[in-house]
Amino acid sequence: MAAITMKNIVKQYGDGFPAVNDVSLDVRDGEFMILVGPSGCGKSTLLRMIVGLEDITSGEMRIGEKVVNTVAPRRRNLSMVFQNYALYPHLTVYENIAFPLRLAKRSDEEVRRRVTETAKLLELTEHLERKPANLSGGQRQRVAMGRAIVRQADAFLFDEPLSNLDAKLRGQMRTEISRLQRRLGVTTVYVTHDQTEAMTLGDRVAVLRKGILQQVGSPRELYEQPVNLFVAGFIGSPSMNFLPASVDGTFLETPIGRFDLRDERKASAVGDRDVVLVGVRPEDFEDASLVSEDKRAAGALVRVHVDVTEWLGNEQYAYVPYEAPRELADQLRELSRELDSDQMRTQAVVSLDASSLITAGDEAELWINTSRLHIFDPATGENLTRDEARVTELADHATRVREAQRRAQRPDAPAD
Ligand SMILES: Nc1ncnc2c1ncn2[C@@H]1O[C@H](COP(=O)(O)OP(=O)(O)OP(=O)(O)O)[C@@H](O)[C@H]1O
Ligand SMILES: [Mg+2]
Repeated sequence: MAAITMKNIVKQYGDGFPAVNDVSLDVRDGEFMILVGPSGCGKSTLLRMIVGLEDITSGEMRIGEKVVNTVAPRRRNLSMVFQNYALYPHLTVYENIAFPLRLAKRSDEEVRRRVTETAKLLELTEHLERKPANLSGGQRQRVAMGRAIVRQADAFLFDEPLSNLDAKLRGQMRTEISRLQRRLGVTTVYVTHDQTEAMTLGDRVAVLRKGILQQVGSPRELYEQPVNLFVAGFIGSPSMNFLPASVDGTFLETPIGRFDLRDERKASAVGDRDVVLVGVRPEDFEDASLVSEDKRAAGALVRVHVDVTEWLGNEQYAYVPYEAPRELADQLRELSRELDSDQMRTQAVVSLDASSLITAGDEAELWINTSRLHIFDPATGENLTRDEARVTELADHATRVREAQRRAQRPDAPAD
């Protein structure tokens, strides 16, 4: 097992295009690190540089203590699982899993022992003599995983390993991978598009945009304390709403209404900017008629025109269109395009309690939990209201979560 340390890593392809641009990232020994970002942001390129399938243009890549920039892939002792895990159709499950050990010319005795152990871990024992064609999608995926873990590599690298599976199977495999990783305690870097995978699997998540690393932190930190507009919009589904606003003391003038921010710290973070973008997550709105007096007084109330509602049983969404000033509207559309959401109009997406009776066409009163709102600089995208004390608290919490999960999977492991 080993840490993976990337220092100022750059990858320029033949045409000079910087697919990965000055990325520095430390993956700790035993850590589960997620790489996310829109299509083309450089996730696979970065992963392939770790494994050695792609040359590094500049920067330093270490595995453990060793600089591996020019070390051949075979000698890096890493295991990679691709999106299109190709199993050998003519070999049995047993021989598919055994393949890397056969390549390494291990003894039959060792092969038997390791394959048996791995198959047990992945619940493949009764399928060992079958051929891949006769297995279900999930079983095949587990065989591919088996082939990756049988080798006792220093780290596992996954490039969207579950994207070929249907939703139900993805869910099952996700839990499986999580359990396996905690159990084995092997350093893992995992690329995904899937919000749920990113939030549930990772000890930490690294967000890339156009080859540039934006933020690395625990899933909670990214969700609660994003450093900029991009991370705020990328993490969370549906996305955070960004409302243009002018600031007047502690009051915010937004297209959905004027309200009191009730927070000196946040108000002063605005400085002398005339216009800012206010970020409110869908769940930080509520049907005001369902909110207690105390909470109403602690937040803000706005009257809005609701365009569409979607009732989903456990919650419901309401859409609130608004007019934004021209340049900001263009900027917001551009951001939403980059986030792959492609919203055609400026509208707020609001999550309401399922019991709310607000209906399309209504003038509704909504409550906003102002304690959770963020303020962004529209020019740089920087989050002006990130709370450093809370960031430290969340980092401590993330460490405790990781320890607890590790103990649950490996009760006999020595304490650190
Ligand atoms: N062999 C190549 N030659 C030239 N450019 C490449 C090559 N491979 C990738 N690129 C470019 O590098 C950028 C990053 O590609 P990469 O495959 O790493 O993205 P990604 O984040 O994995 O995207 P996706 O989510 O679509 O898999 C893209 O703009 C892509 O066009
Ligand atoms: Mg990719």
